[in-house]
Amino acid sequence: MTPATSPQRQLVNVALVRAHLVASATAFAILLLAGLAFALQFMQYYPFPGIPALSPGRVRMVHTNMAAYGFIANAFIAGLLWAIPRLTKRPILSDGLGWLIFWAWQGILVLTFLGILGGYAQAIEWGETPIFVDPLVLVGLVLLVTNLAHPIFKTRERGLYVSLWYFLAAFAWTGLVYFMGNYMPQFWVPGAPGAAIAGLFIHDLVGLFVTPIGWGLMYFFVPLLLKKPIWSHALSLIGFWGIAFFYPMQGVHHFLWSPIPMYAQYGAVVATIAIEVVVVTVIVNFFGTLYGRSDAMRSNLPIRWFYVGMLNYALTCLQCAIQVTLTVQKVIHFTDWVVGHAHLVMFGVFGFWIMGMMVELWPQVVGRPWYSTRLLTAHFWLTTIGMTSMFVILMAGGLVQGYLWGSLAHWADSVVYSLPFWWARTLTGLLIILGTGLFFYNMWATARQPAPAYVPGAATAEA
Ligand code: HEM
Repeated sequence: MTPATSPQRQLVNVALVRAHLVASATAFAILLLAGLAFALQFMQYYPFPGIPALSPGRVRMVHTNMAAYGFIANAFIAGLLWAIPRLTKRPILSDGLGWLIFWAWQGILVLTFLGILGGYAQAIEWGETPIFVDPLVLVGLVLLVTNLAHPIFKTRERGLYVSLWYFLAAFAWTGLVYFMGNYMPQFWVPGAPGAAIAGLFIHDLVGLFVTPIGWGLMYFFVPLLLKKPIWSHALSLIGFWGIAFFYPMQGVHHFLWSPIPMYAQYGAVVATIAIEVVVVTVIVNFFGTLYGRSDAMRSNLPIRWFYVGMLNYALTCLQCAIQVTLTVQKVIHFTDWVVGHAHLVMFGVFGFWIMGMMVELWPQVVGRPWYSTRLLTAHFWLTTIGMTSMFVILMAGGLVQGYLWGSLAHWADSVVYSLPFWWARTLTGLLIILGTGLFFYNMWATARQPAPAYVPGAATAEA
């Protein structure tokens, strides 16, 4: 432990990590409220009727964009700022650049938020960020990668730990994916080929940005918290190369039964099922690591968040391998099943990992112990029950919708039959919001406690 007032440059810029965590939590609050508002629309209780800027379609885009670029991106940057200097024993290239990126990223989020509400969304799923914001995002990504990759290239450590492999891959892929999705379908590749690229973008955003950073962070935090090495380094490399090989080929599975050539659709189906093998290796590796330390699931809350997220990951990938078949697609396409799947991935997996990371990092970045562990436990259970039941309800509702449409029942009938599911979804959302409210109160109360003499976990830079 180093005195908080150390004049030397610290290995980890704790204030920067804290700022990104706060920004992530703020985006999370906005996305939850937007999700709730949009969910109410389904029962015709929309809270902002007749206000164009707050029309449901725009609020839905705020919900999804804040999830990806506000909540997840900010938390991941915090995790990277924490993990990379520790793994390389080198600080990031420049703290000043780190702050510039922080403010630029929040500026991008504000512009995205206002642009979407102002009606300037780009007509590309997950690429709704207004077209005038896209160049800023690309410049921001280049600066971020420059700042974070520097310690990896300069490290004197022998051999790169697998987390760094994942991070480097995400650094190489994310900018390319963002450029491809936001520019190619709109300017150069219109029509069905453009849809194929948009599908690739949707999937690669999850597979080549969120997934590698998420797993990289798990490979960092889990052995650290369990105080034992990862079970198999070889398996971790199989997982890495499997993702690199199979993920980029899956994009077209978002547009099955569409005019995109069938060979591309079949290829996407096979690649999606193949990823299951990769997933199994990664899951086996992490549960092998947990073996002998399963008591941590009870005693260590971050570990609990991480492993429940991993179980959700296994579930979502298994679900994916089933729902990608053309037979199942006939039933579930365009239904709430897909929305349930999206929540299980984005929230049940990556959101849970982020929550675990916040529980672990927040006391360290504010230099105070958690105000209340009971509130932390309540947050975990309310979120887990809320998220799991939301997933099950949306899956069930999706099946009802799919079979009704398949039987050529009147569209209005499917709406009537969906209503109980939509009510239940809203209630599960309220559980999640309640849990999150308790968590945010706990964060605030923790930060307000009297300061101890030392800031834990802030080692000094080697060079
Ligand atoms: C209070 C909790 C939440 C509620 C009530 C809620 C509600 C909704 C609603 C109503 C939709 C639109 C569904 C449709 O168009 O038919 C949606 C979509 C989505 N939400 Fe949430 N949501 C919540 C939390 C979250 C969280 C925490 C995340 C991610 C971290 C998330 C990620 C998504 C994604 C990715 C979609 C797009 C689904 C798709 O296009 O298939 N949601 N949500």
